[in-house]
Amino acid sequence: PADGLALTPPMGFNNWNSTHCRAEFNEDMVKGIADLFVEKGLKDAGYQYVNLDDCWALPSRDANGKLVPDPARFPNGIKAVADYIHAKGLKLGIYTSAGTKTCNSAGFPGALGHEYSDAQQFADWGVDYLKYDNCNNQGVDAKQRYTTMRDALKATGRPIVYSICEWGQNKPWEWATDIGQLWRTTGDISDNWGSMLSILKQNLPLAPYAGPGHWNDPDMLEVGNGGMTDTEYRSHFSMWSVMAAPLLIGSDLRKASQATFDILDNKEVIAVDQDPLGKQGTVVSSEAGRWVVAKEMSDGSRAVALFNESSSAQRIATTARAVGLPEADAYTLRDLWQHRSYNTASTISATVPAHGTVLVRVSADRRWAANPPAVELGLDSG
Ligand code: DGJ
Repeated sequence: PADGLALTPPMGFNNWNSTHCRAEFNEDMVKGIADLFVEKGLKDAGYQYVNLDDCWALPSRDANGKLVPDPARFPNGIKAVADYIHAKGLKLGIYTSAGTKTCNSAGFPGALGHEYSDAQQFADWGVDYLKYDNCNNQGVDAKQRYTTMRDALKATGRPIVYSICEWGQNKPWEWATDIGQLWRTTGDISDNWGSMLSILKQNLPLAPYAGPGHWNDPDMLEVGNGGMTDTEYRSHFSMWSVMAAPLLIGSDLRKASQATFDILDNKEVIAVDQDPLGKQGTVVSSEAGRWVVAKEMSDGSRAVALFNESSSAQRIATTARAVGLPEADAYTLRDLWQHRSYNTASTISATVPAHGTVLVRVSADRRWAANPPAVELGLDSG
């Protein structure tokens, strides 16, 4: 939408992947995450939205039809949480469904038929982001349901990022550009390699539909939740960044390892995701699970992911011309995980470990730099 929201992919946190509806999803957690965003430098790295998922409300509306925060989870209400988060310079997101109830079997209220009053309630609380799910939708046309909430949010006058969560079922990339700032392209991610890989493959072909203010959303991050290795989590984070996906942290940072913080806080990788040109990377080649995905950057460089789908180390290679760079005498490669620079005459190649990704940013040079030396690029070198 032409409202200036989410000109780069939204960054933040959502509790769902780590807690689902368990009791640990509560005010303490949400405040704790906001505290860590500031203390650990994640706010400075660009993470901004602290988002609540399903199960924040009581099953019944009050006598006036208003939503009621669950007092066991949010004893001070949502406005108090919003105030706390805003005081830290962060933003608050909330969740409901474009149906009569949300997805959880406890039967929490959805917004279908209550769009204008629920949107106003969210705005009154100071909500900055709405994730709008698809359960219990009564078979009402998706575009119609998602448009009504778009209009209801607009009517509040408050800028609220609008996340369309209908799991790609109705091809929202074809109709939602003027409705929401992002739309889910797939079913739910889970914390394992197979799920991440399957979602990656579904989201890659949708590159033409992404751009500033209208992003493909391949679901939230699982980094740090324990079901993948750190190598696999680096791949997950690299590929989401090359796809200009929203970066919504899905692990409980209060329990996160240093390795998890190191992945989520990699500013050179985040810069790929957040590049203002807003292009989603496209597949250059994918022979035998040796993927090369290249993203055009605003400075003319290309972010290039050498992604190894296979379970053995593989040599993955491409060229500067193949990833769309102009003819030049030499190119500079910046390894965004090793934080080292190299020169090359043309080849971009590395030996990539099983399920690993070498992520480089490649720019055309006018001449060979005296330093750093031209050495072979590879994760295995360090
Ligand atoms: C389905 C969504 O896709 C998930 O991300 C999550 O919001 C759950 N519903 C909550 O019930």
